[in-house]
Amino acid sequence: MSQNNLTLTPLFLLILTLFTTLLTAAPADYYVAGVDQTPNAVHVYPRNKPWTSPNLHWSFTAGTRNKGWINLSDVKFRRTASHGWIALVCASGGNAGIVNVSKNKLKTDLSDVLWTGSPGANPHAIERIPHLGAVVVASSNPGKLTVYYPRDADEVNDYKNLERSEVKYEAPGAHGVLWDPNGGSGSEGVEKGLLWVSLDKGMHKYRITGRGKDIKLVREGEMIRFPGKAGLGHDLQPDYTDGDVLLTTDSYGAYAYKVSSGEWKTVREGKAIKSFVREKGGEYLWVTQSGKKGWVSPWVRFGMEAGAKASERKGGGKRGFYKARVFEVDFE
Ligand SMILES: *[C@@H]1O[C@H](CO)[C@@H](O)[C@H](O)[C@H]1NC(C)=O
Ligand SMILES: *[C@@H]1O[C@H](CO)[C@@H](O)[C@H](O)[C@H]1NC(C)=O
Repeated sequence: MSQNNLTLTPLFLLILTLFTTLLTAAPADYYVAGVDQTPNAVHVYPRNKPWTSPNLHWSFTAGTRNKGWINLSDVKFRRTASHGWIALVCASGGNAGIVNVSKNKLKTDLSDVLWTGSPGANPHAIERIPHLGAVVVASSNPGKLTVYYPRDADEVNDYKNLERSEVKYEAPGAHGVLWDPNGGSGSEGVEKGLLWVSLDKGMHKYRITGRGKDIKLVREGEMIRFPGKAGLGHDLQPDYTDGDVLLTTDSYGAYAYKVSSGEWKTVREGKAIKSFVREKGGEYLWVTQSGKKGWVSPWVRFGMEAGAKASERKGGGKRGFYKARVFEVDFE
């Protein structure tokens, strides 16, 4: 009896250790929003479950009938004071929009779009300026930024009545846009915040001035060149573990930019990384263009390390992912 106990105890401990190791080694569960151009939809799935329809958590289907919504190119989830979550979306076909995110309707489509704009010129990314209710769209060809402002400057949550600003912003090769509420200063507010734009060879940053019709983007400083060969900019995302870090990609790799010090770090080398982000548990996720199939990929890849030989997990399959985002609104 006592002998049995002696042999069982170490075995039990071993099993317990293995079990805890497995638990801690498992990636944190969170939701991933994939921009999938094959069904032309945004699909949100749990990180750790098969990406099959029973596990679909939220979706926005733009479909293939409406030309302006062809080839969805971006999604960002944002929190608003009056409405809770919204989804900002845009498409190469020329449109940009705000989708109603509601617990009462998890499968959305074009009928759930609260506002549609048509900036044209191959829109690649969209962002909202909180407190002002403005929307900025980055189009790549010819590269430009288009600003939409609320018709009534006091109605910052009136998503249905956004007007297109007459002011023209040239931005050669613009592909990414991200609002950074504290601009590395640690305190929030429109005055402190910066709008970052990734474009050909580097990033631009803008301060926002004015309200309503008078909203303007004011460029601050020179272009911040990507490190190394400095290719065509693509994604621009937060590092959810560090409000002082921006993650961006160009034709040759993915980089971390420390806003307060202006330092660059190459996080992953690789051509045509279309999207790159890090969730708050520290895991990176990315989409890299896969060879023959144009600019999309069947895979969203994951790794705690994002170097050239990163460990990775493939998600999806048979799909046409263009970008992957963390389904989360708090990033600073
Ligand atoms: C959409 O993508 C397909 C390839 O997947 C391409 O042939 C087509 O030109 C694109 N259309 C637009 C409007 O971007
Ligand atoms: C958003 O969708 C929900 C669920 O369908 C609906 O009850 C609500 O009225 C919608 N909000 C707007 C602003 O259209």
